[in-house]
Amino acid sequence: MNAERGIQGSYWLETAPPGAPAPPPSGDLTVDVAVVGGGIAGLSTAWELVRQGREVAVLEADRIAAGVTGHTTAKLTALQREAGLPAELVTETDLPFAVAGAVRVSGQAQFHPRKYLLALTDDLHRRGGTVYEGTRVVGLTEGDPCVLRTDSGMSIRADKVVIATHYPVFDRALLFTRLSPRRELVVAATIDEDRAPHGMYITPEQATRSVRTAPYRDGKRLLIVTGEHFAPGTADVEERFARLSAWADDHFAGLTFTHRWATQDNDSTDSVPLVGPLHRGSRHTYVATGFGGWGMSGGIMAGGLLSDLINSREVAWDDLYDPRRLASVVREGTSFLKHQAHVARHFVGDRLSPVTGPAPDDIPPGDGAVVRLGGRQYAVHRDENSHVQAVSARCTHLGCIVSFNRAEQAWECPCHGSRFAPDGEILQGPAVHPLEKRDIPE
Ligand code: FES
Repeated sequence: MNAERGIQGSYWLETAPPGAPAPPPSGDLTVDVAVVGGGIAGLSTAWELVRQGREVAVLEADRIAAGVTGHTTAKLTALQREAGLPAELVTETDLPFAVAGAVRVSGQAQFHPRKYLLALTDDLHRRGGTVYEGTRVVGLTEGDPCVLRTDSGMSIRADKVVIATHYPVFDRALLFTRLSPRRELVVAATIDEDRAPHGMYITPEQATRSVRTAPYRDGKRLLIVTGEHFAPGTADVEERFARLSAWADDHFAGLTFTHRWATQDNDSTDSVPLVGPLHRGSRHTYVATGFGGWGMSGGIMAGGLLSDLINSREVAWDDLYDPRRLASVVREGTSFLKHQAHVARHFVGDRLSPVTGPAPDDIPPGDGAVVRLGGRQYAVHRDENSHVQAVSARCTHLGCIVSFNRAEQAWECPCHGSRFAPDGEILQGPAVHPLEKRDIPE
């Protein structure tokens, strides 16, 4: 992203780069547990299970700990729960600007999520677990055993299946009606050690900003600032990055920005993650999703909870996270209706929109637009060398119309957050099929 300006992508990926990819399965497999998705929730679940003697395979469509987890804002915090932690009201912080007051919870951890997960994966391997990368799961038949089908035509038979793909790629409980995706931006800049705050901070305002630092090079630390929430496919992301950088510069003065990236969270309608059986009739399938902005702590929690459920252990608090919980109209009603209205607006409105979009020749280099030609909607992208390619504008998940995020060079679906590269390949589910390639009619 923005290589021409010397701006890197995710700091977590830069400082813990992926090694050689683990190959996909070379034939059909049979395991005790198949975990679909190699982010923090999937790897944590797999690691817990191999420690308990289960034979486990992790199936990751791309590279492990490189998707949402590799682009995390890395807030590992206990601040989202009323847990009776020792909190105190203070007016002094190590921020370089005054605050009216702050609630401080001491003794929280900061960590490098990829270093943590790569070490966890090494231990997973040592204990006999297997990770398959470049392995997209496109089909699930529930049964005894369950059978998963990969995009290369392999079958994986498993007694238990865990869907930990961030937004669930198999969704018989219609969880997509209870999950709202939102993107969040991150900018990072070098800062002298003696100016760097060492706590983690989050503002309470509606336009939330959060701040932490991490070790960097040449005796400097990296100041990491996050904020700017918006639904995928609905915002001018370049303008949002500029706003976030301006806030950082206003509060820390004289920064040289080195990185920027974005992450995506799924908010459940009652703000509590959905971790447990995949649907009401589910006996062998489980899901972990809806962590909101708290995927680091929530993903690790999900690993412990799902391994206990799979091993039929009593968990006193599993009802709290059970995806089958009955929605309370009072608790969920407003956000549920808001999400449905948002989806309906895009599902119906965007498809029937009379707007034809620009002519393909008018799309500037490095940009993309949805163009209606002959009654069909094309997602047309022109790269920096003026090469034009077109794909169907209809998302392969449930058919909403994608829109182009120029800052990140991606097609994004506003309904449930699927993301696609300019050539239609999947960057992020729930879609499991790429956008169909199309020729632009003469
Ligand atoms: Fe659901 Fe696109 S992600 S329709």
